[in-house]
Amino acid sequence: MKGYALTVALPKGRLFEKAYRALTSAGLDLPQPQDKRAMFFEKGDLALLLLRNADVPTYVDLGIADLGVVGKDNLVEAGRELYEPVDLGFGACRVSLIRRPEDHGPIRRLASKYPHIAELWLEQKGLSADVIKLHGNVELAALAGLADAVVDVVETGTTLKKAGLEEREVILKSTARLVVNKPALKLKAGRIRPLIERLREG
Ligand code: PRP
Repeated sequence: MKGYALTVALPKGRLFEKAYRALTSAGLDLPQPQDKRAMFFEKGDLALLLLRNADVPTYVDLGIADLGVVGKDNLVEAGRELYEPVDLGFGACRVSLIRRPEDHGPIRRLASKYPHIAELWLEQKGLSADVIKLHGNVELAALAGLADAVVDVVETGTTLKKAGLEEREVILKSTARLVVNKPALKLKAGRIRPLIERLREG
């Protein structure tokens, strides 16, 4: 954003605390978000944007934010070519194909929060199915018969177990990544390169 030396996009929700701690431990003097409903914070020459996980790649790719933290799952789903210099290691989960135990036939309708990942998987398997975009409680689509398979996040496996569903295939393994806008990396190398090095050192 104009007027700031560096603009950082962080996902609110489960990744926030660890992402915030990783960046501040690496020397970035980020503002402390106080108000839970606010989305924009500033401190000195730094701006902090709080976004939905899935929106972080868009803000970084279009250069509104110079860098951000996002789960690999949302990064692949966004389909944007971002510089992804550091695997931060936390936020581990997997995106998997999930079905009811009794479903073994061909997949005709597949529901997901990740329609792009679902399409990529179908293509890779040489399959075709209708992909339906959902926004949450995706397992319900398999249980209620909206779809005969779903592609969703599995973290601890508790949701699956409770729903009596089966994880049939791990499609991708995800952790939080540092993503950087490519022009910003060149223009603001003095700020961004040392941060990347410190994050790599852990
Ligand atoms: C995610 C995902 C699963 C659940 C998996 O949902 O869609 O439902 O977490 O976690 P578990 O394996 O540890 O049980 P989230 O809580 O993000 O909410 P949503 O369904 O509204 O997207």
